Amino acid sequence: MLAHVARPVEILSSPAVSAGLLRVENRIQRLSTSSRLPLINTAAGRITGAGGKRLRPALTLATALALGGRINNRVVTAAACVELIHAGSLVHDDLMDNAAERRGVRTVNAELGDARALVVGDFMLAKAGLAALSSASKPVAETLAAVVVELAEGQFQEAAELFDPGRTPEDALQSITRKTASLFRASCLVAHPAGRSMAAYGERFGVLFQVLDDLLDLASTAERLCKPVGNDLRQGVYTLPLLMALRHDCGDVRPFLGRRLSQDEITFLLARLRRSRMVDDTLEYCRSLASDALASLPDIADPQITAALYGLPTAYIDWAESLVVR
Ligand code: IPE
Ligand code: IPE
Ligand code: MG
Ligand code: MG
Repeated sequence: MLAHVARPVEILSSPAVSAGLLRVENRIQRLSTSSRLPLINTAAGRITGAGGKRLRPALTLATALALGGRINNRVVTAAACVELIHAGSLVHDDLMDNAAERRGVRTVNAELGDARALVVGDFMLAKAGLAALSSASKPVAETLAAVVVELAEGQFQEAAELFDPGRTPEDALQSITRKTASLFRASCLVAHPAGRSMAAYGERFGVLFQVLDDLLDLASTAERLCKPVGNDLRQGVYTLPLLMALRHDCGDVRPFLGRRLSQDEITFLLARLRRSRMVDDTLEYCRSLASDALASLPDIADPQITAALYGLPTAYIDWAESLVVR
């Protein structure tokens, strides 16, 4: 199952990026098990050791190479910190979503309860900040601290708009830009002093990435994703694919908004949405985001990295499409 999930990141995995990712992996494991309390190490190591695509650290390494940098200790640390922030935010996200499974294993909240999941997530976010400050650089640490703020704002906004039938596609877009795209942008920013030239690419890819995740929650299966589906409807998160579908051929779904749904209603709605234009419209929207992302790429000397960064958004869309159940 994981082999299926791992595919899109392979496009970024030139020999240099792959070698760098091995070093990043080592750093991630050391950082997530560096508490003086063994139980914290077990809990944090549980999520970082369970896999995941490692897309954000791969983007950091590819960006460093694209901008003429080398994969040195500072870049490896920056990439590991990005992944640690991602994993810490997933611990918090699963707590907020009351999710029981992540990366094919039980979540920290399911295993140890909400209170411990809360502080394990805090531990991971804070460790990332400390490591960035001590082993990367002050600007990298500042960028990562700022992204944790933005992430919290995006997640807060989403939480504040749960079950809100008045949520608009623009509201959803603003929330995902903060909660997800900001970390992809930061993955580029921390890679190199000239990382800003890749920031727009990272952010646009990040929006596309979350929109596809939202689509798969409505149009795939738990077996294919290694995480539950229908969760967003269950939790009252009205995502961009759903909100756009309401404006097109799914106006009849609107009476289901604004309240908790039974499992039967969720099953009915998923089938209804999969039969609609939602999947095609969302994929088309993502293709336009992909072409915006490519248009913002700076000139890159290395042809292998150029091909990888050009190919990533489309590869991701194709991968998501392969997981859709119609
Ligand atoms: C999941 O991110 C959370 C979202 C922002 C949608 P990923 O799909 O990158 O999760 P892992 O790291 O591969 O588990
Ligand atoms: C991503 O949103 C969460 C973060 C950015 C922390 P989701 O809630 O959609 O992620 P999944 O679907 O649980 O992986
Ligand atoms: Mg979630
Ligand atoms: Mg999701």
